[in-house]
Amino acid sequence: MSIILIGGEKGGTGKTTLAVNIAAARARDGHDVLVVDTDPQGSASYWAAAREEAGIEPRVASIQKFGKTLANELKDLSKRYEEIIVDAGGRDSIELRSGLVVADKAYVPIQASQFDVWTLDQMDKLVSQAQSLNTGLKVYVVINRASPNPVVEETKEARELLEEFENLELLSLVIRDRIAYRKAVREGMAVSELPRRDSKACAEIDLLYREIYR
Ligand SMILES: Nc1ncnc2c1ncn2[C@@H]1O[C@H](COP(=O)(O)OP(=O)(O)OP(=O)(O)O)[C@@H](O)[C@H]1O
Ligand SMILES: [Mg+2]
Repeated sequence: MSIILIGGEKGGTGKTTLAVNIAAARARDGHDVLVVDTDPQGSASYWAAAREEAGIEPRVASIQKFGKTLANELKDLSKRYEEIIVDAGGRDSIELRSGLVVADKAYVPIQASQFDVWTLDQMDKLVSQAQSLNTGLKVYVVINRASPNPVVEETKEARELLEEFENLELLSLVIRDRIAYRKAVREGMAVSELPRRDSKACAEIDLLYREIYR
């Protein structure tokens, strides 16, 4: 039983993409999963609706929740669902702050090519505040949309810079830029559910999944 938050203050880093792929994988493993979409854009809800409409199994429940009551609502929901995955917007939102207070673990996707020290610095501070209320909170950074070309060394700089942050730990696994991610999310699927399976994308999500639920 856990509350996993996928969040961060920067927009468009892949929060929703990773959240829904992990949710589908957890459901496939036989768990009762709820995706909590705290982003007014509603991308995770859109994914869940597309999934529902296409009749893709296993089903993944989702709801939208906003505002400062989120922490309490998440606690209540965690009594009804085995696993909660929170997609927490793209800004320093009240939802991100509230989510961090009740999450067991949080994952912050970043794009190595658009590495943004300032937003990570903000995130590091937010985590420190949240940890005064939620002492067990662990927060990990995951590099997303890295170049699929192994010759491109864009993750190196990110690794060096991340050493500065006390409350953020960088995962060694890397998610690369692959069409399968875009395609799957559009269709309410996880990458492993696409008819033409991208085995590299599947392996990346599998690694992330095992890292989260190890
Ligand atoms: N690994 C990837 N490979 C290819 N495309 C990706 C990958 N991750 C995310 N994308 C694409 O990047 C865009 C942003 O991703 P996503 O919507 O998941 O980010 P987000 O952090 O949830 O954004 P927002 O801050 O707007 O909520 C989407 O078009 C998505 O399809
Ligand atoms: Mg999103």
